[in-house]
Amino acid sequence: MLKPRLSVKEILHQDPDPKQVHTIMGWVRTFRNNQFISLSDGSGPDVLQVVLELGKFDENLLKRITTGACLKISGKLVASPAKGQSVELLADAVEVLGDCDAEKYPLQPKKHSLEFLREIGHLRMRTQTFGAIFRLRNTAAFAIHKFFQEKGFLYIHTPIITASDAEGAGEMFRVTTLDLNHVPKNEAGEVDYSKDFFHRSANLTVSGQLEGELAAMAFSKIYTFGPTFRAENSNTTRHLAEFWMIEPEMAFYDLEDNMNLAEEMLKYIIGECIKQNDKDLDFLNKRWEEEERQKPAAERYPMNLLQRLQFVLEHPFERLTYTQAIEILQNSNYNKKKKFKYPVDRWGIDLQSEHERYLVEKHFQKPVILTDYPKDIKAFYMRLNEDGKTVRAMDILFPGIGEIVGGSQREERYEYLLQRMREMNIPEKELWWYLDTRRFGTCPHSGFGLGFERLVQFITGMGNIRDVIPFPRFPGHVEF
Ligand code: 4AD
Ligand code: MG
Repeated sequence: MLKPRLSVKEILHQDPDPKQVHTIMGWVRTFRNNQFISLSDGSGPDVLQVVLELGKFDENLLKRITTGACLKISGKLVASPAKGQSVELLADAVEVLGDCDAEKYPLQPKKHSLEFLREIGHLRMRTQTFGAIFRLRNTAAFAIHKFFQEKGFLYIHTPIITASDAEGAGEMFRVTTLDLNHVPKNEAGEVDYSKDFFHRSANLTVSGQLEGELAAMAFSKIYTFGPTFRAENSNTTRHLAEFWMIEPEMAFYDLEDNMNLAEEMLKYIIGECIKQNDKDLDFLNKRWEEEERQKPAAERYPMNLLQRLQFVLEHPFERLTYTQAIEILQNSNYNKKKKFKYPVDRWGIDLQSEHERYLVEKHFQKPVILTDYPKDIKAFYMRLNEDGKTVRAMDILFPGIGEIVGGSQREERYEYLLQRMREMNIPEKELWWYLDTRRFGTCPHSGFGLGFERLVQFITGMGNIRDVIPFPRFPGHVEF
């Protein structure tokens, strides 16, 4: 039996005791002077220093203690004279569970570029940086469940394979078992999906919202937290083909209730990460400061990572309408001096990320919630305002990220919804069940979607979304 044993994190909290023998397992980060092993098992940011008495261990064994090797070590915990740690393990016995050929092991104890580490995604989790990122990701995920559970929300699993396109955006991955070399065709020469697995065309979900709305019509307050797929060909630092989304949906919430909930949620998650992963954040903060120092002074962010997180916690998000935002952008010196790639020349344009970032980083210098967008640039299900031109939409924009949350009050009026669907060519026949909720006990309701990776990006300060998900999927990349 390999268990029970203490993790590195647990043992570092123990008091030295010359009588008690501990057994510990983990991977070698470094081995110095044939004497000092720093051992990591990923349980926390700290490594355990293991001390081998000179002359006590066989030469052949010592040769096998290399960076990356997996060891089982028994020994006693003693007070450590080294700085930065209170205890260390004085080894009695060392067993190599898994050798690691130092010549071939790609992870050397030195600084590697993030690009290189992405190519060795199967190993990068063993580095300090990715250890910190994925521990924070774990804390954030659990905090989301805690937040909603404590508020009485029901966690519901929406389908991953669907026949509908929730966003009406049409950038979906098809799911099929048809033989692509012999695709069955109908008389019109089109693919005959009636011969496919589901007897109709199916795809991976782009959002669980529509099914989430059905659940909110039964349980009042629900949330989903699941994978989402978008076949958009965007090679940016903010887009993935597979990402995780949190989608709460609430009956009897209007847009303001919706915004309040989203703001409270974001602050709660960030607060939990600061509380529970302070050392991981300190590490990432140092990394951030180093990177900032490389930049020309004018491009540096006015705060470090920790200050930025604290700032978001302490300040209310700025709330304004799309129309007000367009005015600010149009009148900005930036626009007048033609510094935007896409000039802001009229009401109705879709905001580009450069515009969002101007509002957040230059103008308000804090998170911003934009509401009441033109209906033509938003999805069919958003509630139409009295003006007939705008909808009860809200996007939350974060510094360094741009859009982190997208949501709305939903169109709960059957006639209005039907009309919007017709105007936007959303097939009524396919969404009969969605329309049904507006026929059978409809009610005002709202919801939003939080892109989980964008949040983890914000918390960890990582510049590229591919570095905050263990195995990123993006155009041309589906390794591991
Ligand atoms: O704004 P989006 O497309 O909204 C929806 O899907 C709604 N159905 C949500 C709802 O109201 N229930 O996506 C929501 C969020 C975005 O704000 C962004 O943070 C993230 O999902 N997101 C992506 N994250 C990574 N890669 C992508 N390709 C993303 N597309 C959207
Ligand atoms: Mg959006």
